[in-house]
Amino acid sequence: MNHLDLAAIRAQFPILSETVRGKRLAYLDNAATTQKPEAVLQALDRYYRHQNANVHRAVHMLAERATQAYEGARDDIARFLAVERESVIFTRGTTEGINLVARSYLQPRLQPGDEVLLTGMEHHSNIVPWQLAGAKTVAAPVNDDGSLDLDGLLARLNDRTRMVALTHVSNTLGTVLPVGEVIAAAHARNIPVLVDGAQSLAHADVDLKGWDVDFFVTSAHKAYGPTGFGVLYGKTALLDAMPPWHGGGDMIETVTFEGSTWNTLPYKFEAGTPDIAGAIGFGAALRWLSDVGLEAMHAHEADLNQYGHAQLAEVPGLRILGAAPGKSAIFSMVMDGTHPHDLGALLNEAGVAVRTGHHCTMPLMKRFNVPATARASLAVYSGRDDIDQLVDALKTARRLLVA
Ligand code: ALA
Repeated sequence: MNHLDLAAIRAQFPILSETVRGKRLAYLDNAATTQKPEAVLQALDRYYRHQNANVHRAVHMLAERATQAYEGARDDIARFLAVERESVIFTRGTTEGINLVARSYLQPRLQPGDEVLLTGMEHHSNIVPWQLAGAKTVAAPVNDDGSLDLDGLLARLNDRTRMVALTHVSNTLGTVLPVGEVIAAAHARNIPVLVDGAQSLAHADVDLKGWDVDFFVTSAHKAYGPTGFGVLYGKTALLDAMPPWHGGGDMIETVTFEGSTWNTLPYKFEAGTPDIAGAIGFGAALRWLSDVGLEAMHAHEADLNQYGHAQLAEVPGLRILGAAPGKSAIFSMVMDGTHPHDLGALLNEAGVAVRTGHHCTMPLMKRFNVPATARASLAVYSGRDDIDQLVDALKTARRLLVA
Protein backbone atom coordinates (compact mmCIF):
# COMPACT_ATOMS: atom_id res chain seq x y z
CA MET A 1 0.00 0.00 0.00
CA ASN A 2 1.09 3.58 -0.42
CA HIS A 3 0.22 6.86 1.22
CA LEU A 4 -1.58 8.58 -1.58
CA ASP A 5 -5.02 10.04 -0.88
CA LEU A 6 -6.58 9.62 -4.33
CA ALA A 7 -9.75 11.60 -3.57
CA ALA A 8 -7.69 14.53 -2.29
CA ILE A 9 -5.43 14.41 -5.36
CA ARG A 10 -8.39 14.30 -7.74
CA ALA A 11 -10.02 17.26 -5.99
CA GLN A 12 -7.04 19.35 -7.10
CA PHE A 13 -7.74 18.73 -10.81
CA PRO A 14 -10.94 20.62 -11.73
CA ILE A 15 -11.00 19.26 -15.30
CA LEU A 16 -11.54 15.72 -14.04
CA SER A 17 -15.15 16.56 -13.20
CA GLU A 18 -15.97 17.13 -16.89
CA THR A 19 -18.37 14.57 -18.30
CA VAL A 20 -18.53 12.96 -21.75
CA ARG A 21 -22.10 12.52 -23.03
CA GLY A 22 -23.24 12.41 -19.43
CA LYS A 23 -20.65 9.83 -18.46
CA ARG A 24 -17.80 10.13 -16.01
CA LEU A 25 -14.55 11.11 -17.72
CA ALA A 26 -11.80 8.49 -17.42
CA TYR A 27 -8.86 10.50 -18.71
CA LEU A 28 -6.29 7.93 -19.81
CA ASP A 29 -4.25 9.98 -22.27
CA ASN A 30 -1.60 11.18 -19.85
CA ALA A 31 1.38 10.21 -21.98
CA ALA A 32 0.11 12.78 -24.50
CA THR A 33 -0.40 15.40 -21.81
CA THR A 34 -1.34 15.40 -18.14
CA GLN A 35 -4.01 17.57 -16.57
CA LYS A 36 -3.02 20.52 -14.38
CA PRO A 37 -3.55 20.85 -10.62
CA GLU A 38 -4.92 24.00 -8.93
CA ALA A 39 -1.38 24.91 -7.81
CA VAL A 40 -0.31 25.27 -11.45
CA LEU A 41 -3.54 26.96 -12.57
CA GLN A 42 -3.18 29.48 -9.74
CA ALA A 43 0.48 30.19 -10.52
CA LEU A 44 -0.43 30.93 -14.15
CA ASP A 45 -3.37 33.09 -13.11
CA ARG A 46 -1.28 34.97 -10.55
CA TYR A 47 1.40 35.65 -13.12
CA TYR A 48 -0.97 37.17 -15.68
CA ARG A 49 -2.99 39.10 -13.06
CA HIS A 50 -0.17 40.42 -10.87
CA GLN A 51 3.29 39.87 -12.38
CA ASN A 52 3.05 40.11 -16.17
CA ALA A 53 5.97 41.98 -17.80
CA ASN A 54 8.97 41.03 -19.88
CA VAL A 55 11.97 39.56 -18.04
CA HIS A 56 15.60 40.78 -17.78
CA ARG A 57 14.78 44.03 -19.57
CA ALA A 58 13.51 46.75 -17.23
CA VAL A 59 13.59 48.01 -13.65
CA HIS A 60 9.91 48.80 -13.14
CA MET A 61 7.96 46.95 -10.49
CA LEU A 62 6.20 44.43 -12.70
CA ALA A 63 9.41 43.65 -14.60
CA GLU A 64 11.09 42.90 -11.30
CA ARG A 65 8.21 40.68 -10.18
CA ALA A 66 8.21 38.81 -13.49
CA THR A 67 11.99 38.32 -13.50
CA GLN A 68 11.98 37.17 -9.92
CA ALA A 69 9.20 34.63 -10.52
CA TYR A 70 10.80 33.42 -13.76
CA GLU A 71 14.31 32.98 -12.32
CA GLY A 72 12.77 31.52 -9.17
CA ALA A 73 11.25 28.86 -11.40
CA ARG A 74 14.72 28.05 -12.70
CA ASP A 75 15.78 27.49 -9.09
CA ASP A 76 12.78 25.18 -8.54
CA ILE A 77 13.61 23.19 -11.66
CA ALA A 78 17.34 22.97 -10.86
CA ARG A 79 16.50 21.84 -7.31
CA PHE A 80 14.08 19.18 -8.59
CA LEU A 81 16.64 17.86 -11.06
CA ALA A 82 19.46 18.28 -8.49
CA VAL A 83 21.72 20.16 -10.92
CA GLU A 84 23.32 23.63 -11.16
CA ARG A 85 20.95 26.37 -12.26
CA GLU A 86 23.16 27.58 -15.13
CA SER A 87 22.93 24.10 -16.67
CA VAL A 88 19.12 24.38 -16.99
CA ILE A 89 18.23 25.78 -20.42
CA PHE A 90 14.61 26.74 -21.01
CA THR A 91 13.12 25.40 -24.24
CA ARG A 92 9.72 24.90 -25.83
CA GLY A 93 9.84 21.24 -24.85
CA THR A 94 11.63 17.94 -25.36
CA THR A 95 11.57 18.22 -29.15
CA GLU A 96 13.28 21.60 -29.15
CA GLY A 97 15.88 20.40 -26.63
CA ILE A 98 16.88 17.49 -28.88
CA ASN A 99 17.00 19.75 -31.95
CA LEU A 100 19.23 22.16 -30.02
CA VAL A 101 21.73 19.42 -29.12
CA ALA A 102 21.61 17.95 -32.64
CA ARG A 103 22.38 21.32 -34.26
CA SER A 104 24.66 22.95 -31.72
CA TYR A 105 26.55 19.98 -30.26
CA LEU A 106 26.50 17.23 -32.86
CA GLN A 107 26.40 18.87 -36.28
CA PRO A 108 29.71 20.78 -36.01
CA ARG A 109 31.44 17.52 -35.00
CA LEU A 110 29.96 15.28 -37.70
CA GLN A 111 31.93 13.62 -40.49
CA PRO A 112 30.21 11.73 -43.32
CA GLY A 113 29.15 8.26 -42.12
CA ASP A 114 29.08 9.21 -38.44
CA GLU A 115 26.34 7.56 -36.43
CA VAL A 116 23.92 8.36 -33.64
CA LEU A 117 22.91 5.22 -31.77
CA LEU A 118 19.24 5.12 -30.76
CA THR A 119 16.84 2.40 -29.71
CA GLY A 120 14.00 0.91 -31.72
CA MET A 121 11.44 2.48 -29.42
CA GLU A 122 12.36 6.14 -29.86
CA HIS A 123 9.78 8.84 -30.51
CA HIS A 124 10.19 10.57 -33.88
CA SER A 125 11.51 13.60 -31.99
CA ASN A 126 14.53 11.51 -30.99
CA ILE A 127 15.16 10.27 -34.55
CA VAL A 128 14.45 13.04 -37.03
CA PRO A 129 16.58 15.85 -35.48
CA TRP A 130 19.71 13.65 -35.73
CA GLN A 131 18.91 12.86 -39.35
CA LEU A 132 18.36 16.57 -40.11
CA ALA A 133 21.75 17.28 -38.55
CA GLY A 134 23.28 14.85 -41.08
CA ALA A 135 23.93 11.79 -38.90
CA LYS A 136 23.25 8.19 -39.83
CA THR A 137 20.74 6.84 -37.29
CA VAL A 138 21.26 3.29 -36.03
CA ALA A 139 18.78 1.60 -33.69
CA ALA A 140 19.28 -1.01 -30.98
CA PRO A 141 16.70 -3.82 -31.16
CA VAL A 142 13.63 -4.16 -28.96
CA ASN A 143 12.79 -7.55 -27.42
CA ASP A 144 9.38 -9.19 -27.81
CA ASP A 145 8.32 -8.09 -24.32
CA GLY A 146 9.16 -4.48 -25.16
CA SER A 147 12.40 -4.36 -23.19
CA LEU A 148 15.61 -3.03 -24.69
CA ASP A 149 18.05 -5.56 -26.12
CA LEU A 150 20.97 -4.18 -24.15
CA ASP A 151 23.55 -6.51 -25.71
CA GLY A 152 22.23 -5.48 -29.11
CA LEU A 153 22.78 -1.86 -28.16
CA LEU A 154 26.28 -2.43 -26.83
CA ALA A 155 27.20 -4.37 -30.01
CA ARG A 156 26.26 -1.31 -32.07
CA LEU A 157 28.61 1.09 -30.25
CA ASN A 158 31.55 1.59 -32.59
CA ASP A 159 34.17 4.08 -33.78
CA ARG A 160 31.60 5.95 -35.88
CA THR A 161 29.20 6.47 -32.96
CA ARG A 162 29.22 10.19 -32.09
CA MET A 163 26.28 10.17 -29.72
CA VAL A 164 23.87 7.81 -27.98
CA ALA A 165 20.33 9.11 -27.56
CA LEU A 166 17.62 7.09 -25.86
CA THR A 167 14.34 7.51 -24.11
CA HIS A 168 14.10 6.89 -20.39
CA VAL A 169 10.48 5.66 -20.58
CA SER A 170 8.89 4.54 -23.85
CA ASN A 171 5.77 6.59 -24.64
CA THR A 172 4.24 3.62 -26.46
CA LEU A 173 5.24 0.59 -24.37
CA GLY A 174 5.93 2.09 -20.95
CA THR A 175 9.31 0.34 -20.86
CA VAL A 176 11.79 1.92 -18.45
CA LEU A 177 15.21 1.76 -20.07
CA PRO A 178 18.48 1.02 -18.20
CA VAL A 179 19.91 4.45 -18.95
CA GLY A 180 22.63 4.25 -16.26
CA GLU A 181 24.13 1.11 -17.84
CA VAL A 182 23.96 2.57 -21.33
CA ILE A 183 25.66 5.79 -20.19
CA ALA A 184 28.48 3.88 -18.47
CA ALA A 185 29.12 1.79 -21.59
CA ALA A 186 29.04 4.84 -23.89
CA HIS A 187 31.34 6.84 -21.60
CA ALA A 188 33.85 3.97 -21.61
CA ARG A 189 34.20 4.86 -25.30
CA ASN A 190 34.04 8.64 -24.70
CA ILE A 191 30.65 8.88 -26.39
CA PRO A 192 28.18 11.37 -24.88
CA VAL A 193 24.59 10.39 -24.11
CA LEU A 194 21.32 12.26 -24.34
CA VAL A 195 18.35 10.93 -22.35
CA ASP A 196 14.81 11.82 -23.41
CA GLY A 197 12.88 12.27 -20.18
CA ALA A 198 9.57 13.41 -21.66
CA GLN A 199 7.68 10.45 -20.22
CA SER A 200 9.76 9.84 -17.13
CA LEU A 201 9.95 13.02 -15.10
CA ALA A 202 6.67 12.42 -13.25
CA HIS A 203 6.63 8.62 -13.42
CA ALA A 204 10.11 7.20 -12.80
CA ASP A 205 13.28 7.89 -10.83
CA VAL A 206 15.38 10.51 -12.56
CA ASP A 207 18.96 10.81 -11.33
CA LEU A 208 20.97 13.04 -13.65
CA LYS A 209 24.12 13.24 -11.51
CA GLY A 210 24.00 9.57 -10.52
CA TRP A 211 23.69 8.58 -14.17
CA ASP A 212 26.38 11.11 -15.16
CA VAL A 213 24.22 11.93 -18.18
CA ASP A 214 25.54 14.52 -20.65
CA PHE A 215 22.20 15.89 -21.86
CA PHE A 216 18.66 15.41 -20.54
CA VAL A 217 15.53 16.85 -22.10
CA THR A 218 11.99 16.96 -20.82
CA SER A 219 8.63 18.73 -21.17
CA ALA A 220 6.55 20.49 -18.54
CA HIS A 221 3.16 19.42 -19.86
CA LYS A 222 3.67 15.71 -19.24
CA ALA A 223 4.53 16.46 -15.60
CA TYR A 224 1.41 18.46 -14.66
CA GLY A 225 2.85 21.75 -16.00
CA PRO A 226 1.86 23.94 -18.96
CA THR A 227 2.27 23.07 -22.65
CA GLY A 228 4.96 24.71 -24.79
CA PHE A 229 7.65 24.68 -22.13
CA GLY A 230 10.52 22.33 -21.30
CA VAL A 231 14.13 22.18 -20.26
CA LEU A 232 17.42 20.97 -21.58
CA TYR A 233 19.97 20.01 -18.96
CA GLY A 234 23.54 19.76 -20.17
CA LYS A 235 26.88 19.41 -18.46
CA THR A 236 28.18 22.94 -18.22
CA ALA A 237 31.50 22.11 -19.90
CA LEU A 238 29.61 20.81 -22.94
CA LEU A 239 27.14 23.71 -23.03
CA ASP A 240 29.96 26.25 -22.63
CA ALA A 241 31.73 24.82 -25.67
CA MET A 242 28.59 24.81 -27.85
CA PRO A 243 27.67 27.74 -30.12
CA PRO A 244 24.26 29.38 -29.69
CA TRP A 245 21.50 27.83 -31.78
CA HIS A 246 18.97 30.66 -32.09
CA GLY A 247 20.07 34.29 -32.30
CA GLY A 248 18.18 37.29 -30.92
CA GLY A 249 17.60 39.32 -27.81
CA ASP A 250 18.90 38.24 -24.39
CA MET A 251 21.38 35.65 -25.75
CA ILE A 252 24.06 38.24 -26.53
CA GLU A 253 26.69 40.12 -24.55
CA THR A 254 27.52 42.68 -27.26
CA VAL A 255 26.30 43.26 -30.80
CA THR A 256 28.02 45.25 -33.56
CA PHE A 257 27.71 45.03 -37.34
CA GLU A 258 31.16 43.44 -37.32
CA GLY A 259 30.06 40.62 -35.05
CA SER A 260 28.51 39.68 -31.72
CA THR A 261 29.50 37.95 -28.50
CA TRP A 262 27.38 35.68 -26.38
CA ASN A 263 25.78 35.87 -22.98
CA THR A 264 26.75 33.38 -20.27
CA LEU A 265 24.88 30.14 -19.54
CA PRO A 266 21.99 29.53 -19.57
CA TYR A 267 21.00 32.70 -21.46
CA LYS A 268 23.25 31.97 -24.45
CA PHE A 269 20.62 29.45 -25.58
CA GLU A 270 17.52 31.50 -24.74
CA ALA A 271 16.93 33.99 -27.55
CA GLY A 272 13.84 36.19 -27.58
CA THR A 273 11.07 36.78 -25.09
CA PRO A 274 10.63 33.40 -23.39
CA ASP A 275 7.53 31.56 -22.23
CA ILE A 276 7.57 33.29 -18.85
CA ALA A 277 4.28 31.83 -17.68
CA GLY A 278 5.42 28.39 -18.84
CA ALA A 279 8.50 28.53 -16.64
CA ILE A 280 6.51 29.75 -13.64
CA GLY A 281 3.86 27.07 -14.21
CA PHE A 282 6.50 24.35 -14.47
CA GLY A 283 8.18 25.52 -11.28
CA ALA A 284 4.80 25.30 -9.54
CA ALA A 285 4.19 21.81 -10.99
CA LEU A 286 7.52 20.52 -9.68
CA ARG A 287 6.90 21.98 -6.22
CA TRP A 288 3.50 20.28 -6.28
CA LEU A 289 5.07 16.94 -7.32
CA SER A 290 7.55 17.18 -4.46
CA ASP A 291 4.77 18.03 -1.99
CA VAL A 292 2.67 15.03 -3.03
CA GLY A 293 5.78 12.86 -2.92
CA LEU A 294 7.37 11.07 -5.83
CA GLU A 295 7.69 7.79 -3.96
CA ALA A 296 3.96 7.63 -3.18
CA MET A 297 3.12 8.58 -6.77
CA HIS A 298 5.34 5.89 -8.22
CA ALA A 299 3.96 3.24 -5.85
CA HIS A 300 0.39 4.21 -6.77
CA GLU A 301 1.11 4.00 -10.49
CA ALA A 302 3.00 0.69 -10.12
CA ASP A 303 -0.04 -0.76 -8.35
CA LEU A 304 -2.32 0.45 -11.16
CA ASN A 305 0.05 -0.97 -13.76
CA GLN A 306 -0.25 -4.40 -12.19
CA TYR A 307 -4.03 -4.12 -11.78
CA GLY A 308 -4.38 -2.87 -15.37
CA HIS A 309 -2.48 -5.79 -16.88
CA ALA A 310 -4.52 -8.27 -14.84
CA GLN A 311 -7.86 -6.72 -15.83
CA LEU A 312 -7.01 -6.18 -19.48
CA ALA A 313 -5.94 -9.83 -19.78
CA GLU A 314 -9.63 -10.69 -19.23
CA VAL A 315 -10.79 -8.83 -22.34
CA PRO A 316 -11.23 -11.33 -25.20
CA GLY A 317 -9.10 -10.70 -28.28
CA LEU A 318 -7.06 -7.93 -26.66
CA ARG A 319 -3.28 -7.86 -26.85
CA ILE A 320 -1.03 -5.43 -24.97
CA LEU A 321 2.30 -4.43 -26.50
CA GLY A 322 4.92 -4.07 -23.78
CA ALA A 323 5.32 -6.19 -20.67
CA ALA A 324 8.88 -5.39 -19.62
CA PRO A 325 9.61 -5.82 -15.91
CA GLY A 326 9.34 -2.54 -13.99
CA LYS A 327 7.44 -0.83 -16.80
CA SER A 328 5.42 2.35 -16.40
CA ALA A 329 1.58 2.38 -16.45
CA ILE A 330 1.07 2.64 -20.21
CA PHE A 331 -1.02 0.05 -22.09
CA SER A 332 -0.76 -0.11 -25.87
CA MET A 333 -3.77 -2.13 -26.94
CA VAL A 334 -4.56 -4.02 -30.13
CA MET A 335 -7.91 -5.80 -30.45
CA ASP A 336 -8.30 -8.56 -33.03
CA GLY A 337 -10.56 -7.58 -35.90
CA THR A 338 -10.79 -3.88 -34.97
CA HIS A 339 -8.94 -0.76 -35.99
CA PRO A 340 -7.55 1.27 -33.05
CA HIS A 341 -9.30 4.43 -34.32
CA ASP A 342 -12.72 2.69 -34.21
CA LEU A 343 -11.86 1.39 -30.78
CA GLY A 344 -10.83 4.88 -29.61
CA ALA A 345 -14.10 6.37 -30.89
CA LEU A 346 -16.17 3.78 -29.03
CA LEU A 347 -14.14 4.23 -25.86
CA ASN A 348 -14.88 7.94 -26.06
CA GLU A 349 -18.61 7.12 -26.18
CA ALA A 350 -18.07 5.44 -22.81
CA GLY A 351 -16.22 8.46 -21.39
CA VAL A 352 -12.75 6.92 -21.78
CA ALA A 353 -10.03 9.09 -23.34
CA VAL A 354 -7.13 7.19 -24.96
CA ARG A 355 -4.74 8.05 -27.78
CA THR A 356 -4.93 6.08 -31.01
CA GLY A 357 -2.36 5.94 -33.81
CA HIS A 358 1.34 5.24 -34.14
CA HIS A 359 2.21 7.50 -31.18
CA CYS A 360 5.05 9.09 -33.20
CA THR A 361 6.90 5.75 -33.06
CA MET A 362 6.52 4.38 -36.58
CA PRO A 363 9.65 2.16 -36.42
CA LEU A 364 8.26 0.53 -33.27
CA MET A 365 4.89 -0.12 -34.96
CA LYS A 366 6.81 -1.82 -37.77
CA ARG A 367 8.78 -3.88 -35.23
CA PHE A 368 5.52 -5.23 -33.78
CA ASN A 369 3.87 -5.46 -37.17
CA VAL A 370 0.87 -3.28 -36.31
CA PRO A 371 -0.24 -0.04 -38.01
CA ALA A 372 -1.38 1.58 -34.77
CA THR A 373 -2.55 0.90 -31.23
CA ALA A 374 -5.05 2.36 -28.78
CA ARG A 375 -3.00 3.56 -25.84
CA ALA A 376 -4.19 4.08 -22.28
CA SER A 377 -1.66 5.94 -20.14
CA LEU A 378 -2.11 6.65 -16.44
CA ALA A 379 -1.18 9.41 -14.02
CA VAL A 380 -1.26 10.11 -10.31
CA TYR A 381 -5.02 10.88 -10.35
CA SER A 382 -5.85 7.60 -12.13
CA GLY A 383 -7.58 4.89 -10.14
CA ARG A 384 -8.86 1.34 -10.41
CA ASP A 385 -12.26 2.82 -11.34
CA ASP A 386 -10.68 4.28 -14.50
CA ILE A 387 -9.31 0.88 -15.44
CA ASP A 388 -12.64 -0.80 -14.73
CA GLN A 389 -14.40 1.77 -16.92
CA LEU A 390 -11.83 1.10 -19.68
CA VAL A 391 -12.30 -2.68 -19.43
CA ASP A 392 -16.12 -2.40 -19.59
CA ALA A 393 -15.87 -0.06 -22.56
CA LEU A 394 -13.47 -2.45 -24.35
CA LYS A 395 -15.87 -5.35 -23.85
CA THR A 396 -18.77 -3.30 -25.22
CA ALA A 397 -16.66 -2.15 -28.15
CA ARG A 398 -15.74 -5.74 -28.92
CA ARG A 399 -19.40 -6.76 -28.98
CA LEU A 400 -20.16 -3.93 -31.41
CA LEU A 401 -17.09 -4.20 -33.64
CA VAL A 402 -16.48 -7.94 -33.73
CA ALA A 403 -19.99 -9.31 -34.15
N1 ALA B 1 4.63 12.28 -27.31
C1 ALA B 1 3.27 12.39 -26.85
C2 ALA B 1 2.57 11.05 -26.85
O1 ALA B 1 3.19 10.04 -26.76
C3 ALA B 1 2.51 13.42 -27.56
O2 ALA B 1 1.36 11.02 -26.95
